[in-house]
Amino acid sequence: MLAVENLSHRFNNGAEETPVLNDIHFVINKGEIVALLGSSGSGKSTLLNLMAGLMKPTQGSILINGHPIEKMSENQLAEFRRTQIGFIFQSYELIPHLTVRENVELPLIFQGTKAKIRKEKAIALLTKVGLEEKGDMFPSQLSGGQQQRVSIARSLITSPAIVFADEPTGNLDTKTEKEIIDLLIELNETLSITFVIVTHELEVARRTQRVIQLRDGFLVEGEPWVGEDE
Ligand SMILES: Nc1ncnc2c1ncn2[C@@H]1O[C@H](COP(=O)(O)OP(=O)(O)OP(=O)(O)O)[C@@H](O)[C@H]1O
Ligand SMILES: [Mg+2]
Repeated sequence: MLAVENLSHRFNNGAEETPVLNDIHFVINKGEIVALLGSSGSGKSTLLNLMAGLMKPTQGSILINGHPIEKMSENQLAEFRRTQIGFIFQSYELIPHLTVRENVELPLIFQGTKAKIRKEKAIALLTKVGLEEKGDMFPSQLSGGQQQRVSIARSLITSPAIVFADEPTGNLDTKTEKEIIDLLIELNETLSITFVIVTHELEVARRTQRVIQLRDGFLVEGEPWVGEDE
């Protein structure tokens, strides 16, 4: 469903060109949960932003359901992001003056969905992430792990084809990190949602079905834990 083909990206800062991704290629199938693993600066966020259509690659192609997104117009891209892509951020990015339920509804407001349907969907998703009691509270009244659950519910409300999570557990303690990864795996298994989880932690990558590893902008072949004690 998502194919990255011969993808290279360079940032142009005046005189200097910085190569950030070099000839990256992989496929992500529908219903997979994949970790995108790499140390800081290896190009993970850049790759995620390219796959989400937030920037155009210097070279190569990104196909979602066979459509090359780098060929889309700005309007087509906006529509594509609004309907096909879900995003989960390290710092949750919830709107502080909206309630938990309103935060989850927000992507549907941009789609012009009727209030009653929005509310029903938001409540159903809040129940799925274990927050059915918290809909009328504000984000600041929740713990970090609970706020990330809200942002997960929000990412799913448009029924996107694929959900990208950029370091979703980066701000959380180890126990909460495990609970959030458990939740993503459960949502993947029960709702067949396709997830790409960016992480620099081997422990997170180990929990997913498959790992795509970057090192200094290059794809690393083989499993990252080869050579370790299993
Ligand atoms: N807008 C930009 N202009 C120039 N260089 C950039 C830009 N954005 C990122 N880079 C460079 O690209 C490289 C990869 O950055 P990227 O943010 O993709 O890494 P990352 O793997 O997500 O790192 P982290 O784990 O720290 O978030 C870095 O060397 C960074 O300095
Ligand atoms: Mg990053």
